[in-house]
Amino acid sequence: MELKEKITGTFESRFGGHGTIYASAGRINLIGEHTDYNGGFVFPGAIDKVIMAEIRANGTDKVRVYSIDIDDYAEFGLNEDDAPKASWARYIFGVCREILKRGGKVEGFDAVFAGNVPLGAGLSSSAALESCFAFALNDMFNGNAIDKFELARIGQSTEHNYCGVNCGIMDQFASVFGKKNHLMRLDCRSMEFEYFPFEAEGYTLVLLDSVVKHELADSPYNKRRASCERVAKRLNIETLRDADKAMLESVKSDITAEDYFRAKFVIEEKERVLTVCDALVKGDFDTVGRCMYETHDGLSKDYEVSCEELDYLNDIARECGVTGSRIMGGGFGGCTINLVKNELLPGFIATAKEKFNAKYGHEPKVYEVIISDGARKVEE
Ligand code: GLA
Repeated sequence: MELKEKITGTFESRFGGHGTIYASAGRINLIGEHTDYNGGFVFPGAIDKVIMAEIRANGTDKVRVYSIDIDDYAEFGLNEDDAPKASWARYIFGVCREILKRGGKVEGFDAVFAGNVPLGAGLSSSAALESCFAFALNDMFNGNAIDKFELARIGQSTEHNYCGVNCGIMDQFASVFGKKNHLMRLDCRSMEFEYFPFEAEGYTLVLLDSVVKHELADSPYNKRRASCERVAKRLNIETLRDADKAMLESVKSDITAEDYFRAKFVIEEKERVLTVCDALVKGDFDTVGRCMYETHDGLSKDYEVSCEELDYLNDIARECGVTGSRIMGGGFGGCTINLVKNELLPGFIATAKEKFNAKYGHEPKVYEVIISDGARKVEE
């Protein structure tokens, strides 16, 4: 059944009648990983996989919400001590609280939601959920007075304050601002961004999902961020955006080897984003691909956010002559993103499935990337 029909049918049987339907998207990132919280550049796009919700004000001060995919129901008030226990419901509660904290309005509502963003695959299903509700509550209760950047920040603060992930702004930004057939280069220091048409003629972007669950809460993700902040502090700068290799070398003996390698990766990665953007405009996919492999190596060896399965998928990509391949997103599991010449695609996917299955007893999941729109109203 189509996502929308599933949602409207469930809403009607649970709450009666109908509300308004909203959606927001998961994201990919072509390059620029772990650079967002360092004030660097990222290069994401929204994808055709979404979280969709039907929502209607209920005239009370209670939120009543049902998750079709988790088959779970939660009911909560809008005050700070009303926080629900279920982690999925905390995303929605957090969005409500963050809007209220900013002086916005939220009243009680009924909602049903579902999605097709694979969970724990590094495609930002949580940002899609936050952005869907932030967009919807802005439309329903605030006459769209909250600007789109603030909607993204509301999602990010939800992660920080209610979900235990000290994330950057990339995922929520991509989910809110996504535009069909366009990637977006965001400068996470100035928050200036530019849309880049993504027309890789002759190539396909494909994700291979290792199905190793990537879970960022209480994870080494927060530790990576802390390492970067320590080095920035040692250098007397706000973020590693303002660091270069020479500066890093000058404090090498004062920081731990671990912190040194984390910062080295970030400094190299922020340059790679600019290189990739220029190469993309020129249609130079070899350079794009080479940078993707460099990012993988950096994430695996210096930033240490890979895992055996992701490294194996990357090795297979190299063997198959794939133009570019790397871990995507926070790491610790999830997907690789691969830039593949169309004629090599069937062979690459068949080989990856066969070899991965022989080693790990199951095939990776395959998702072709279709760059799509971000947060939106689907139907009144
Ligand atoms: C996660 C975070 C983002 C970003 C990426 C790594 O997806 O939510 O803010 O840091 O990891 O690039």
